[in-house]
Amino acid sequence: MAFRAFLIAIFIAAAVAPALATDYMVGDDKGWASGVNYTEWAQGKDFRVGDTLSIAPALATDYIIGDNAFWTLGVNYTVWTEGKDFRVGDTLMFMYKPGSHNVLSVNGDDFEKCTSSNVSAVPLMSGHDVIPLTSPGKKWYICDIGDHCSRGMKLVITVSAAEGPIPSPTPGTSPAVEVSPWRSCAWMVAMMAVYRMIMA
Ligand SMILES: *[C@@H]1O[C@H](CO)[C@@H](O)[C@H](O)[C@H]1NC(C)=O
Ligand SMILES: *[C@@H]1O[C@H](CO)[C@@H](O)[C@H](O)[C@H]1NC(C)=O
Ligand SMILES: *[C@@H]1O[C@H](CO)[C@@H](O)[C@H](O)[C@H]1NC(C)=O
Repeated sequence: MAFRAFLIAIFIAAAVAPALATDYMVGDDKGWASGVNYTEWAQGKDFRVGDTLSIAPALATDYIIGDNAFWTLGVNYTVWTEGKDFRVGDTLMFMYKPGSHNVLSVNGDDFEKCTSSNVSAVPLMSGHDVIPLTSPGKKWYICDIGDHCSRGMKLVITVSAAEGPIPSPTPGTSPAVEVSPWRSCAWMVAMMAVYRMIMA
């Protein structure tokens, strides 16, 4: 009788254990990327044997220039760019009242002088201009209306290459993936065995 109770206890403990395993997405929605503090991410988490870690590349980011101040006078866009990691694949979104401002892509010289020496350059002026970042390097944008550029409506960013692809794990070194089918199979066999012993 005691033996049967013991088996039932094991059965219940085993039945509960798999439900407790947690799949952690490393970095959550920021993924596995530079510029993420994984010490902070790991804080307060209780990792257990049987849990899994999933590594996924960072998702592309859509930047609303100036955040909820948008593209306007009175914002320091140098301050806005601080701590941001612009990558190929990200997009810039310039939001403003059409007619009040515009967005002109310029070179570094023109950026400093708040001029446009490129006669064929056409400013964007829809009020919700979306610029995909397609190549690495420095990019300069100004508002070409009146003295808005010299009053601060200028944005310079440095775009880095997209985050590299995740190297595929070497065969045989990925227990997280390879153990699972075996584990669920062994788990069913064990359950059947315990069930038979209890019912015997
Ligand atoms: C990450 O965050 C921890 C805890 O807040 C901090 O001590 C550490 O200096 C940070 N590391 C980096 C590289 O910012
Ligand atoms: C914007 O902020 C930066 C850094 O704090 C400062 O050096 C710069 O002078 C500011 N620009 C304007 C136009 O206030
Ligand atoms: C001038 O602007 C046109 C249109 O945006 C662009 O294709 C070209 O590369 C620019 N030329 C220079 C020298 O920046």
